[in-house]
Amino acid sequence: MTTRRTILKALAGVAFAADMLPPAAEAADTAVDAARHRAHLDPNVIAKDEDFWLMVRQAYVLDSNIVNLNNGGSSPAPRVALEAMKRALDAANVNPSIVLLREQEPRVEQARRELARLFGCESMEMAITRNASESLATLVMGMDLKSGDEVITTDHSYPRVLQTWRQRSRREGIVVKVLSPSSEGQSQGDLANLVMNAVTERTRVIEICHVTNVLGRIWPVKEIVAQARLRKIDVIVDGAHALAHFPFTNAELNCDFYASTLHKWLGAPIGTGMLFVRKERIAGMWALMPQPATLDNDIKKFEETGTRPAAMRLAILEALRFTVGIGIDRKAARLRFLRDRWSARLVGREEARVLTPSDPTLACGIGYVATPKHDCVKVAARLMEKHGISITAVPTWREPGVRISPNVYTSLAEIDQFSEAFDTVLRDLA
Ligand SMILES: Cc1ncc(COP(=O)(O)O)c(C=O)c1O
Repeated sequence: MTTRRTILKALAGVAFAADMLPPAAEAADTAVDAARHRAHLDPNVIAKDEDFWLMVRQAYVLDSNIVNLNNGGSSPAPRVALEAMKRALDAANVNPSIVLLREQEPRVEQARRELARLFGCESMEMAITRNASESLATLVMGMDLKSGDEVITTDHSYPRVLQTWRQRSRREGIVVKVLSPSSEGQSQGDLANLVMNAVTERTRVIEICHVTNVLGRIWPVKEIVAQARLRKIDVIVDGAHALAHFPFTNAELNCDFYASTLHKWLGAPIGTGMLFVRKERIAGMWALMPQPATLDNDIKKFEETGTRPAAMRLAILEALRFTVGIGIDRKAARLRFLRDRWSARLVGREEARVLTPSDPTLACGIGYVATPKHDCVKVAARLMEKHGISITAVPTWREPGVRISPNVYTSLAEIDQFSEAFDTVLRDLA
């Protein structure tokens, strides 16, 4: 007999054409309702429930010719968020000076409140920016530093942030110390010690990723922030890969400065980011675009970039409703389950060495595989051309390799398809 379950099983791994899908809001509600009905179950049990994740998948429009395992770059937004953005864009275009400025901009405040709730801060500490790059440039450029002051960062930080520090160094003579922790084998204590042991009496700032973009390694933010605070050193945290990827709040981390992008793991449209600055620290930070002194204490001084659409920021609300609705704890468990699934097949392989730790407290959905016997660019290209699988090659990393980053819509069948294809490609290119 054909049951809903067997139909769902048969559909697992299928990408839906837009006209086959239920309406966006209905699909999102179905997934969120299904999560609510499973609230009594352990997230690790739900992680293996393909029926549930298929419902989540229906909330997206996906390209049926491609298995997208590059969500670390940017993720598709669920349809419900994308449609909210498009509706708002259309509405604003009818009469921008009334609709955009008088109706939509005030509604962005709701998104600010909800984002603040997710991160665990007050609304007046949450700026909504265009992406993590803007938030991080605001922090890096906005701190008063003078020639000879030291900044400690690492080569695991995002290249654009390192460039921003280097520009300050060239222009103002600040000293940027870039540490090089090894790619594997470091405990949280090792990483915290490495950073803190580099501190001198001239150190003013430490800048670290919460989750690194190549290895997907979760860093000991709480420990570094606590130790740095004792020494009156500011810590800038780049959370581009952390927010809405796995559960945490700033009540645990106790950061003063935290930046993220919202188009990677929250599922908001491209063009959205967040910047948290603790309220006591806002006045001491300069905005990227000069602002009047009356805004010194106002978090919105970091948002003043001229006229821009409110549509993306309004769609944050739908992304939040969806992502928080399916459960960030369930999402994290699913992403870890998928990572364990493909990485288990690579254990002991010399030509494909997983450098991301398997310990669930040290990583989540992102995994990195060094391919020492192959050109990683060719591996990624072959996977795409012959197998329709999209991953990221990182030839610039000290152990060149590939990064795998599935999302909540990724099926187990797709992960296994990747594993098979990866084996074939490594064999063919040997
Ligand atoms: C760790 C990290 N920081 C910052 C960024 C910048 O994000 P965006 O391009 O959204 O500004 C990225 C993007 O990949 C990243 O991986």
